[in-house]
Amino acid sequence: MRDVALVGAGQSPYGEHPDAGIKELFESAYDAMVESVDRGFDADVLDGAYVGSLGVGGYQLGITGASLTSHLGLTGLPVQRVENACASGGFALLDAVHAVGSGASDAVLAGGVEKMLDLSGDRSKYWLGVSGDTEYERLAGMTFAGVYAIAAQRYLHETDAEHEHLSRVAVKNHENGAVNPKAQFQREVSLEKAQGAPEIADPLNLYDACPTTDGAACAMVVPADEAHEYTDDPVYITGFGGGSDHLALHDRDTITSLSAVREAANDAYDRAGRTADDIDFAEVHDCFTIAELLAYEDLGFADRGEGWRLIDEGRTRRDGDLPVNTSGGLKSKGHPLGATGIGQVVEVFDQLRGDAGERQVDGSVALSHNVGGSGGAATVFIYEVDA
Ligand SMILES: CC(C)(COP(=O)(O)OP(=O)(O)OC[C@H]1O[C@@H](n2cnc3c(N)ncnc32)[C@H](O)[C@@H]1OP(=O)(O)O)[C@@H](O)C(=O)NCCC(=O)NCCS
Repeated sequence: MRDVALVGAGQSPYGEHPDAGIKELFESAYDAMVESVDRGFDADVLDGAYVGSLGVGGYQLGITGASLTSHLGLTGLPVQRVENACASGGFALLDAVHAVGSGASDAVLAGGVEKMLDLSGDRSKYWLGVSGDTEYERLAGMTFAGVYAIAAQRYLHETDAEHEHLSRVAVKNHENGAVNPKAQFQREVSLEKAQGAPEIADPLNLYDACPTTDGAACAMVVPADEAHEYTDDPVYITGFGGGSDHLALHDRDTITSLSAVREAANDAYDRAGRTADDIDFAEVHDCFTIAELLAYEDLGFADRGEGWRLIDEGRTRRDGDLPVNTSGGLKSKGHPLGATGIGQVVEVFDQLRGDAGERQVDGSVALSHNVGGSGGAATVFIYEVDA
């Protein structure tokens, strides 16, 4: 495969957008991406597009891709919707990397969009549930938060972690979201407030959960050796991997580690010729606070059962040695399901180009981690710029 690079990435503000449909949201992300292609952008070069979307609410479940790209005036190119629940965006990027890396395409749009806040709370919980196991979990009445709560219960049982460590994940991510103008929750939260929030599924409370979100994100992938035609500051995707697993928790060997993530990470590290020690900062899929601790372990940032220590020691804060979720993560920046994997790319792209403003951290090697459902699918990417 040939090497690939990102030459543009942008997103809509995340949050509630009562006056915008999915087309307008996607357009706003596309416009932000176009603006970031600093040597000029010509839409005619695009020869493929992949758009991640679960289709929450069912507004445009068929031919989502073309409905969005035609709204942008892009017709003729092959475009398809990619659906892997909350990892739809990550898999849209994986498809774009495969298309450009294989030589089949020369400039591919990888995007994602979701509009979740038009629905009532009950309807949105129905749509969230469709990404869990159907027979044994959803139809038996399990909520999505309930699935992660079971994993959290087990983690607190198996390790020396306490609920306070989960709350500290929320505190850290809100601290970062507070300085992200595109985040849904631009506010800090105290440890006391995070610990004392109303319970949603024991042991998880409101501050252990990401919100529901409207939002979109777009990125552009081209061959690495053509990247300088588009920008002076390309971001190279040096590692990429995807994985999958049983959906139902009872079918898995363990519920405190996601094998889909381990598979994806192994592939990504191998391709990049990197290890976890080389990663300077990361965006990880903290749909629930427990998921961030599991990510630390599955990505190799910490040994099994020891992820909570990174939080305990403050190592993943913005001023730590391994900043995680400088964007605010899903917890504070928001989680518009199909867009999230590409929204993570936007943060990495801005950070590696020195464009992250108050959130700026040092580093030239970054990672993003996007999980679908409760671990039924996952992607991991490694990004680099010249140090
Ligand atoms: C956590 C959750 C249950 C809260 O839903 P809800 O009870 O309907 O909450 P509402 O939207 O009515 O908001 C109530 C208040 O809580 C706040 N809030 C909502 N979600 C929040 C969150 N995750 N963290 C902090 N505050 C939150 C709202 O801003 C609102 O505050 P206000 O009263 O000051 O305006 C819901 O956001 C949820 O299901 N999140 C998980 C989404 C998910 O599973 N995604 C897929 C994961 S892979």
